[in-house]
Amino acid sequence: MFFFRTFSFDDRTGWAYDASTMADFIVRTQALRKEFSGNPVLRDVNVGICRGEILGFIGENGAGKSTFMKILSGIHEPTSGFLESEGKSVKFRSPTEARRAGISLVPQEFNLASDLTVEENIFLAPNWPGWGGILNRKAMRSRATALLAELWANARTNDRIDTLSAAQKQLVEVCKALAFDARILILDEPTTMLTRREIDRLMALMRSLKARGMTLIYISHKLAEVKAICDRVAILKDGQRVHTAETAAIQPSEMARWMVGRELSEIYPSKTCELLQALGHCHRWPVRPPGGALHRQHPRVGLPPVHAPGHLRPGD
Ligand SMILES: Nc1ncnc2c1ncn2[C@@H]1O[C@H](COP(=O)(O)OP(=O)(O)O)[C@@H](O)[C@H]1O
Ligand SMILES: [Mg+2]
Repeated sequence: MFFFRTFSFDDRTGWAYDASTMADFIVRTQALRKEFSGNPVLRDVNVGICRGEILGFIGENGAGKSTFMKILSGIHEPTSGFLESEGKSVKFRSPTEARRAGISLVPQEFNLASDLTVEENIFLAPNWPGWGGILNRKAMRSRATALLAELWANARTNDRIDTLSAAQKQLVEVCKALAFDARILILDEPTTMLTRREIDRLMALMRSLKARGMTLIYISHKLAEVKAICDRVAILKDGQRVHTAETAAIQPSEMARWMVGRELSEIYPSKTCELLQALGHCHRWPVRPPGGALHRQHPRVGLPPVHAPGHLRPGD
């Protein structure tokens, strides 16, 4: 299998192709759909994740990013559509099944037992190979120590979770994911609670995991970080993948325009510029929507303003 660095993208299907040969997708989805109580949250999403890349996955709050990743990591089952891992069609019925396929999610909300220790949390997962179902404490401790050191986590294996900082808890979540030989690591908005220094360390960690051959998916609102760290970016809007690009070929301002859609720039031109200025990527007006001139005809009504709750906020 080969990993091609030069792709052309077919945005109708979402598949990336080399000029003549198909790229090496470690995971891909086809027409993935998810409904909650009949409400569609993901609509026919086609995304291919290339082996060894860092894929940025972006979209406004509520676009469906976490739901998509929960399907990839076995937390939710899709309503319809297909998921392929290593070229084979798969159906994950639990996070354990996804983990066996090498896919681990570091969730947006920490999923740690606060009254247990770091090592107990890392190995709480049911498939830890303790002898006869009894946890092998010694093996657990040495593996946890090695993982914490590898991630430069300034925490000890017997520290209780409720004594740790947000950044340390984050690293415990990453340890949990890596403890089971993850080949694909999904980080869902990992920098929200981190300081600048902690973010820089996380970026360095992601680069070193990539250098070791891991595939990473990085969900974020911070478009400058996405540009800096990711090889490609997939953009989700209202449950649909609206664009995919190599990050070398797209500026954060264009990513933001794909996220909010052209209608917002038509209805709320000043707000859109305000948003882009807040992101630090727009210095003059007018902003052109992706792929075309600034049209003002046929404004769609009913779209929320940029500052409505649940949408991008300045500084995000
Ligand atoms: N378990 C659930 N039950 C019902 N609705 C849900 C559930 N999870 C997510 N949603 C809805 O799906 C939409 C997408 O959510 P989510 O995937 O969390 O978006 P994002 O991560 O892009 O912010 C939102 O409108 C959210 O309210
Ligand atoms: Mg989310």
